[in-house]
Parts: sequence; C-alpha cells; structure tokens
Amino acid sequence: MTRFYIGIDVSTTASKALVIDEQGTVIASRSHPHALSTPRPLWSEQDPDDWWRATSQALREVLQVVPADQIAAIGLTGQMHGLTTLGTDGRPLRPAILWNDQRSGPQCEAITREVGAKRLYQIIGSILPPGFTAPKLVWLRENEPEVYQQIQHVLLPKDYVRYKLSGALVMDVADGSGFGAMDIGRRDWSDEMLAAYDIPHAWLPQLCESTDVSAHVNEAGAAATGLKVGTPIVGGAGDQPAGGVGNGIVSLGQCSLTVGTSGVAYAVSDRYAPEPDGRLHTFCGPMPGTWFHMGVMLSAAGCLRWLHDELTPDSSYDDLNQQAAGVPRGALGLLFAPYLTGERHPHPDPVARGAFVGLTLRHGLPQMVRSVMEGVAFGMRDLLELLRSLGVNPAEAVVSGGAANSAVWRQIITDIMGIPLYTVNTSEGAAFGAAILAAVGVGAWPDVPSACAHMVRKVDELQPDAAATADYERLYPTFRGLYPALCQSFAALAEFESS
Ligand code: XUL
Repeated sequence: MTRFYIGIDVSTTASKALVIDEQGTVIASRSHPHALSTPRPLWSEQDPDDWWRATSQALREVLQVVPADQIAAIGLTGQMHGLTTLGTDGRPLRPAILWNDQRSGPQCEAITREVGAKRLYQIIGSILPPGFTAPKLVWLRENEPEVYQQIQHVLLPKDYVRYKLSGALVMDVADGSGFGAMDIGRRDWSDEMLAAYDIPHAWLPQLCESTDVSAHVNEAGAAATGLKVGTPIVGGAGDQPAGGVGNGIVSLGQCSLTVGTSGVAYAVSDRYAPEPDGRLHTFCGPMPGTWFHMGVMLSAAGCLRWLHDELTPDSSYDDLNQQAAGVPRGALGLLFAPYLTGERHPHPDPVARGAFVGLTLRHGLPQMVRSVMEGVAFGMRDLLELLRSLGVNPAEAVVSGGAANSAVWRQIITDIMGIPLYTVNTSEGAAFGAAILAAVGVGAWPDVPSACAHMVRKVDELQPDAAATADYERLYPTFRGLYPALCQSFAALAEFESS
C-alpha cells in the first residue's frame, strides 16, 4: 500500500494541507485563508481558531483525494513567534500576537538590559526583537494583567494546531528557538532567560526535535478532520527552517533567499556559533545536531502588495511586472526603503518606516513599482552580507516566495545579489519541508538530507547580468545610507503618530 505524508502550513495568510508520496510527488494541496487584524499601530493579531478552522477544512478536503488510512504521518510548520495563550479549559485567552507585531519594543529593551546584551545573544542566538514570543508575555503582564493571570499554557501557531489534532502540548526546537527563552546551544529552555522574563516554566510545552514523533491524532482531532486516530504527528519546524528543508538547504555552504511577505536569507551550520553582536538569528536546525543562521526583513514581497493594494488596486500583478520591466535600472534615481512594518535585520528597529527617496516630477507609478522591487532586493542583499560576515559564502542560492514568480523581479534580485539564483522543482516550500520531516520521522528516509537529495531538484538557474550587477553595486552604498539618514525621522514620526 502506498504511504502518504501531510505537511500542514499555518502561515500568516492561510492554512494549507499538502499531501506527498514517498517520492515527493505532490498528490493534493488545499488551503484556506485567514484574516489578520491590526487594531492599533504596531499591532498584528489573528484568532487561533481561524487557523484551526482553515486547517481542518483543508485536511477534510485533501482526505477526499487520499484515504486517511494511507496517511503515514503529519508534519507541521507555520509562521514563527506568534504568542498563543491558553487558559485552564485549553481555549485561547485572546487573539494571538504575531511575529510582525511590534508592541513589545520597551519590554525587549528592559530584558536585554537585565540579562546583558552579549550574554543574551549568546543564550538565545540573536538580539531580542519585539517579534519574538517571550517579550510579548511581559507586555501582557504589564498591559492585560487579567489575561496574564489566566494563562496555563503558551504555544506557537502551528503547535496550537497540533494541540487541536492531538491534545499534546509540544513544540519543536527549530520553532521554539524563536520564542526568545531557549538556550540555543543546549537545545532546551533557558532557566536564566525564564527568570529574567519571570515566566513560569510550567506554561511552556515540552520540546522535541523536528523529526521526532511528537504526538498522535486523537478522537477529537480525527472527528474534526477525517484523519485516523493514532496518525503520528512529527515535531515539524517554523516556516523558515521547514522552507529550508523544502528547498533542499540541508548542507553547509547552501543558502536560500525567500522573498515572501517577509524576506529571509538562510544557511545551515554544523555548530552553534552565533553572530557575536546578535545581528542575525542563529537557531536550532530542523535536523538534530544542526543549527541555522537566518536574517529576516519584515516586509519583502509585502511591500509590493502594499503598493498594489493602496495605490493601484485595479492593476494586475502582470501589469506591475510589465511596468517595472519598462523602467531602467535604478528607477531614474528613485530608491525605496522597505521598512513598512519596522525592521529586524540589519536594522533592528520596530518603528522604522518605508520611504521613497529621490522623487522628482519624472517619477510615476512605473518607477515606484521598480524602485519597490529594487529596494526589497537591496534589503535581501543586506541579509546576504550578514551571512557573509559569518563566513557563509554561497556560490549560488535558491530563491523562492512570491517575488520569485515574477521574471523581472527575480532578475533584479539576481543582479543585486551578483550570484546565480536557482529555483527548485517544488514551490510548496515550508509545507513540502514539513511533509519531508514527517516522512523522515516515521522512517521512510534515514535522514533529512537523503530525503531531500531524492525529492528536491534544481530546475532553473538565472545568471546575474554583469552590467546590471555593476550598476547596482554603485547604487548599493546609497541604499545602505538610507536607514542611518532617516532613522531619527522615523522615530519622530512614530512618536507623532502615537501622541
Ligand atoms: C521568522 C519570521 C517570519 C515568520 C513569518 O523569524 O519572523 O518569517 O516566520 O513567516
């Protein structure tokens, strides 16, 4: 009997269920969207039950295509860092506070002062940005004490889905690394960090490796989804490490650039060696005994979505691509600072903002579209430079995410990176990676690299255009100067907005 594996991806925009066979062929995929609410400046929230509704519906639909008794295992992935608080009855106490929520800036500063910056970077493998989970708990204690007092359990988004499927309270170390309270070198919770936050250990789930079988579908999970009781659920991983697996980034020297809502540069490491100033995240890898380095820009392809939705909602993305293709490199001297939702790397600043710099009467929508694409690509270049500063010197990188679907944008990114960028045979990224983790978890493959070697193939390589790369090299220092020149203004504008 053929065995199938499901990857569930609880992303910021939708929840997806993807079914693959042992060879990595995609058999079925369904996804359902969920809403995001931004009730105040800097806030970003979602209802955890929307994740569950969307996931259970997607599962019911894929199980129309593949019989439930042929599902050998499930792997989970999803947006990282989202604080999901449960009360005594196991129900969410309030909307989840997401990865791109910036409200806990003051709490992050206070904790960093208390632990000491260098010590904190060494423990958690990173600076402590407001997106991380634990500082949001401190924010809750200070701002919503009535909610805080009721907390019994704290989970990440995909782990809430695991809980609904199985009743188990478990988190894998690759996603748990973004909580901000793990000792990343030891792959366990850090008593020192928990003491600094003053958070009870009892609220935290048990940790597991990404390929461990972490739970099994229970009666309630089966009734809601059509899955069989007892189906194994592996640990899984956050969307970035699972996406790394889905893109075949499993060995030293490989690198991926994901240009989706957020932008991420990702590379594997075989030892725990965080950036001494915390300027990148160094987290537990989805393969036991590995770590990964990751630089994150908070708004990447999300910047073009903003421009589309706010300035030209009636255009199609094809129209925007055509407009950008007709504009010369450098958009007639117009640069875009892509910090629409604050920034994490290389400028950790929750109140950073976007900007068009260099507008003249000659600039219109087509130049703005091109400059948004270029500004996002320059932001990704900043992340690649951070990886290079840690000795990761990729000769090529895999590119994925919404921006990779646009030929013009993909070429811009390639030219600005100055190295060949390739795509792989699957565009399912994180969900595919989660399904691979599921297959490895129940022994279909001995380990993640051998599964990836079999399932993930390079399909298309784009070379940088030497003349374009040279032009962009000249422009890059000007882009680098934007944030330092504007950061005081961003802070003053944020202050004005909130006063
Ligand atoms: C990673 C991060 C985002 C979210 C949402 O640190 O914040 O990539 O995981 O995709």
